[in-house]
Amino acid sequence: MTGPDADADVLLSTEALCATHPGRPMVLRDVAITLRRGVRVALLGANGSGKTTLLSCLSGSLRPVSGTLSRHGIVVRHDRRALREHRREVQLVLQDPDDQLFSADVVQDVSFGPMNLGLPVDQVRSRVERALILVGADHLADRATHQLSYGERKRVAVAGAVAMAPDLLLLDEPTAGLDPAGVVQMMDALDRLRESGTTVAMATHDVDRALSWADEAIVVVDHRVVQGPVDELLGDADLIERAHLELPWPLALAQRLGLPGRPRNLDEVVRLVSEQHNARVP
Ligand SMILES: Nc1ncnc2c1ncn2[C@@H]1O[C@H](COP(=O)(O)OP(=O)(O)O)[C@@H](O)[C@H]1O
Ligand SMILES: [Mg+2]
Repeated sequence: MTGPDADADVLLSTEALCATHPGRPMVLRDVAITLRRGVRVALLGANGSGKTTLLSCLSGSLRPVSGTLSRHGIVVRHDRRALREHRREVQLVLQDPDDQLFSADVVQDVSFGPMNLGLPVDQVRSRVERALILVGADHLADRATHQLSYGERKRVAVAGAVAMAPDLLLLDEPTAGLDPAGVVQMMDALDRLRESGTTVAMATHDVDRALSWADEAIVVVDHRVVQGPVDELLGDADLIERAHLELPWPLALAQRLGLPGRPRNLDEVVRLVSEQHNARVP
């Protein structure tokens, strides 16, 4: 996409970005990606491939070795002031909620960010209320954080980021370690967030969930990344193998049954099967 209208939708982009950690070989090379407003992005790759490293770069917490990170087309400098600006618009939720929750109770914890922005108390309160409602954790407001279940802590950690009112929310494996009900609650929360106008990108190694949820995928493979429509990338058998991922089941089943198209979930598989059946029945 080119032209001013398309560019207005670009929240974050990277150019020739290389990143690693102290004393380690390069983790990511020549990363060129674009995150656009309203586009759901799933970041996929094997364990240790560099998903968290990339999210850390996008959030500004890890400075790239070379290359650039831009927000709204302007290169992000890595000084304190620029990073503070960056974090008002881009928030990262870490994989482990215990790396993110520090306060004794839920309201205190979710208030921490907006308080630090210096907002008046009533604004902090309304942001916290709204964030807790969005993640389906308003009933937990008065609870002690250490008494919450893992799934509840994960959603409260998301609420803490949401209370900063970011344009872009980055989540590192938000459904990892959750039971099926916890996964549904988390995905519902992400849907509500998106409906409220926040763009959401998440790292996951769940290819099925990525296929059914995302619009685009970013796949980390051999220290490099590929970005494209999620059904295209996750249906690319060669890429999937090189990235040590698995073909999502709807695409595997479609291939096996010779179905046309790239179904993304159970309903789409069923529709294609019944269309094929009807075409065969005279
Ligand atoms: N803080 C760190 N210090 C040193 N090496 C790290 C650190 N974090 C990650 N790594 C290394 O960087 C590589 C990519 O890790 P990571 O980005 O966490 O992968 P993923 O999130 O895809 O599992 C791995 O080899 C990992 O060991
Ligand atoms: Mg990780």
